[in-house]
Amino acid sequence: MRPNDPLTEAEITDIQDEAENVRAFQLAACSGGLAPFTAGAHVDVHLPGGLVRQYSLFGDPDAHEDYRIAVLREPASRGGSAAMHALKPGDRLRISPPRNLFPLDETADKTLLFAGGIGITPILAMARRLHNLGRCFELHYCARSPARAAFLDRLAQAPFSADIFTHFDDGDASQKLNTHDLLAKPQAGTHLYVCGPGGFMAHLLSTAQEAGWDEAQLHREYFSAQEATDQENQPFDIEIASTGQVLTVPADVTAWRVLDQAGFAVPVSCEQGICGTCLLGVKSGTPEHRDSYLTDEERAMNDQFTPCCSRSKTKRLVLDL
Ligand code: FES
Repeated sequence: MRPNDPLTEAEITDIQDEAENVRAFQLAACSGGLAPFTAGAHVDVHLPGGLVRQYSLFGDPDAHEDYRIAVLREPASRGGSAAMHALKPGDRLRISPPRNLFPLDETADKTLLFAGGIGITPILAMARRLHNLGRCFELHYCARSPARAAFLDRLAQAPFSADIFTHFDDGDASQKLNTHDLLAKPQAGTHLYVCGPGGFMAHLLSTAQEAGWDEAQLHREYFSAQEATDQENQPFDIEIASTGQVLTVPADVTAWRVLDQAGFAVPVSCEQGICGTCLLGVKSGTPEHRDSYLTDEERAMNDQFTPCCSRSKTKRLVLDL
């Protein structure tokens, strides 16, 4: 979380089971109103026990209604999704103002939206917004089966249902997503948005990249950490550019933890390299990027890194602190 973000006390006004292990929550401000949000935005939800998790807002950005989030209960939950699924209507939570790390280019000639599983949440808000604007778009929604796909009823009733294509792993071959055909010809003015599991996103993005789509046309949001690297951690030093202070990051400790213990209040939220909250500038040295937040182009510039999970390829990283 950003330390200066004012938190809003919100009450859960409704909970709906949307699919196997997926629950949708409606949140209303306990006093005052909720800040408007843009398609692709998320809120940080502060859970009992001190956990903080990010959930995308799937409602209509133009409707000025309560916030709506949906949570997949992960079997390997680190506590966040299990804590969310234990909540009841009337329970209260503190939430951050909406933040958008997955913004929609509303001027694109055409937009291709791809959602895998619970990745449908920000994509649904984007579809609503594009429909409201009268823009041309297609939404491709992939899930293992209809039973595991949230929002099928809502999508079937949406005024843009004709622009939605569902693809189920357990369905027949004719309805499977054919990324090679869809992405074969890069089109100027078309933007592509992807949210879903790591493998799904990697497949779509690499197909688009191999077909020659420009990186500026490709937009992504990860909702869980990419697969852990099998590289062995090495200790490295971080130097504080403003003072010359040098701190050693042991192999089994994150750079963020070392900074925190040395008194540097670097904001943190997901602690998995997804949200970008902890991003720091790098003055020299080469980070070993282990996040899902930076694009390939941003990584190649080596001028910023996520201390919650990333490490260093060089013996020393000089940080813009
Ligand atoms: Fe989310 Fe580091 S805290 S990327």
